[in-house]
Amino acid sequence: MEWNEKSDLFFSCVRCSRRYPVQHVRYTCECGGLLDLQRDFSRLKADELLSKWESRWGAKRGAEASGVWRYKELVIDLPDSQIVSKMEGNTRLYPAGRAADYAGLERFMLKHEGENPTCSFKDRGMTCGVTAAKIYGANCVACASTGNTSASMAAYAATCGMKSLIFIPSGKIAYGKLAQVLAYGGMTFQIEGNFDDAMELVQKICSELGIYLLNSINPFRLEGQKTICFETLQQLDWEMPDWFVVPGGNLGNNSALSKALMELHQIGIIRKIPRIAVVQAHGANPLYKMWKEKKNFEPLKNPETIATAIKIGNPVSWEKSLRGIEWSKGVVEEVTEQEIMDAKAILDSAGIGAEPASCCSVAGAKKLVESGVISKKDFVVGILTGNMLKDPDAIIDYHNDRLRDQGIIGRYANRPIKIKADVNEVRKVLGL
Ligand code: F0G
Repeated sequence: MEWNEKSDLFFSCVRCSRRYPVQHVRYTCECGGLLDLQRDFSRLKADELLSKWESRWGAKRGAEASGVWRYKELVIDLPDSQIVSKMEGNTRLYPAGRAADYAGLERFMLKHEGENPTCSFKDRGMTCGVTAAKIYGANCVACASTGNTSASMAAYAATCGMKSLIFIPSGKIAYGKLAQVLAYGGMTFQIEGNFDDAMELVQKICSELGIYLLNSINPFRLEGQKTICFETLQQLDWEMPDWFVVPGGNLGNNSALSKALMELHQIGIIRKIPRIAVVQAHGANPLYKMWKEKKNFEPLKNPETIATAIKIGNPVSWEKSLRGIEWSKGVVEEVTEQEIMDAKAILDSAGIGAEPASCCSVAGAKKLVESGVISKKDFVVGILTGNMLKDPDAIIDYHNDRLRDQGIIGRYANRPIKIKADVNEVRKVLGL
């Protein structure tokens, strides 16, 4: 399989605007800048796109049943036969319930990306990344990961019979994610070092061994990731929120979100631009530091947070991320370990639930409301990036108040009650 010679897609450097044809594998520009995937927008008409996307809503089979490929005109316009899909996306947009009261917001909705096939938002980018790998003729793909990217890549590679090589920090990824990677058959290298070391290693391996790299430095990944935005807005019948609040780790997701908004704006589908708030964990906050202290980007040496998904000190996409935040007149915020886990306890007990990193969206919204950056009356959409069951240890430890050595108190702990198997004992506990 090959790229269509007539494809209107091309890579464009975010730093120097140099263009490259899509027909040859590339991740970065010769100047070192990151690449965007761009296309000719002049043929795309707002009304036609909206009615196509609406007609595909609820499709039962094929690529149109995917919440990514439904928007293929702004993803990659391919025939179904070339697409590697697990009918990803189609995730719910929940009213935040208790979590809205907690954040102090009148209108707070949560887009639950943990409801994807491998239980994280990564599936939206991965369907595009693995599809591109297939078109380039790759038979092996690789990534460094804090867990979710690897679980997703292993699953999509398995779906189309590709080999997958996974580089994870030893002993530092959540159990649910490690279990998935092993189960899907990814060849898993636990390296001595953190995510940033794994990221550096995988880039070398891919360039020396000619393996296709599927971290979010890969421009195709971000194209799929944009559909979180498209699908949320379609679920809202194109009513614009005032804010999107997202966690920030390697900073691919918020880069995709702003790119999606820029494109909708350019085509004339939206006029108002929602502001983007990126929320980092205090112990893994290089973007926040740069933002707050108005200085050059500096990687953080030893990132540390219970939200292991975003325990990243040297995010590859910081430049793209910053471009989007500035364009949307957005902000960067940080939250403490306690704030993450308390927000998680509230979100989980609202019956929604998500893994710790995702809860930065709730904790960050609350903090930004408290500081007056977000108004109580603003309509806010938070992105929940991963499923609650990805990290069961964090839940059990919090509810048993066993995180004090990490400075986290089980403030909203729901401890299990140990009793004899006796009705009277239950009566006693219930006060009956
Ligand atoms: N939330 C979750 C659950 C994640 O897994 C990640 C990133 C993020 C948020 C941050 O998104 O990197 O686009 O800013 N996880 C990557 C991984 C790094 O390897 O799974 P980002």
